Amino acid sequence: MRRPVIAGNWKMHMTCAQAREFMAAFLPQLEQTPNDREIVLAPPFTAISTMAEQAKGSCVSLASQNVHWEPSGAFTAEISPAMLKEHGVAYTIVGHSEPRKYFSESDEQINLRARSAQDNGLIPIVCVGESDEQRERGEAERVIRRQIEQGLENLDPGSLVVAYEPIWAIGTGKTCASEEANRICGLIRSWVGAPDLVIQYGGSVKPGNIDELMGMSDIDGVLVGGASLDPDSFARIANYKSV
Ligand code: PGA
Repeated sequence: MRRPVIAGNWKMHMTCAQAREFMAAFLPQLEQTPNDREIVLAPPFTAISTMAEQAKGSCVSLASQNVHWEPSGAFTAEISPAMLKEHGVAYTIVGHSEPRKYFSESDEQINLRARSAQDNGLIPIVCVGESDEQRERGEAERVIRRQIEQGLENLDPGSLVVAYEPIWAIGTGKTCASEEANRICGLIRSWVGAPDLVIQYGGSVKPGNIDELMGMSDIDGVLVGGASLDPDSFARIANYKSV
């Protein structure tokens, strides 16, 4: 049985004060949420300890937006697994298309981050996905397969989440058709060869499309950017009813 993971990626949004306000409005809306799903939020580093306090006793788990492969050292701007674990962080997002694009993160670095996460008891959420041009050139499957082969090398699929996020659907309002997202998630599962691997879809997930996405056979959750910043809309997503 694959337990769906509904994760919100706050990116570079939310001060501690805003995070507290969000949680005050969000948590009461989870009182009836079935526990067949995992609810995760990835705040910026500065809000992690505030969020850990707020989330205590709730069904919300925390994720970080990065993790380094060394336990400590001269790595300005990076964060170690132990620093995250100290605050009860359970997941970490690696390989998101934004650091791939803006900081030229390679599949090799992504793999190092994901392995360091697993070695230290964090569950990596490894993001993969093709650009608009790659899709138009018919290269989507080849690109994703390479990201999977290199990014997931030597990882334990039992303690891993993969997020299929077509870049052209991120922050654009253009969701990938659910059947196509489902097809790619199915391909990823077969390439990894792990029937129990949890695979999310991400890219313009909203209250209006969550139920349909979660009704798909190979989609085991979502990674949500914009719509996770509003407590009502993320609560609706967390409380999805698959159709
Ligand atoms: P979006 O972002 O939901 O705003 O499209 C998704 C993501 O970047 O993970």
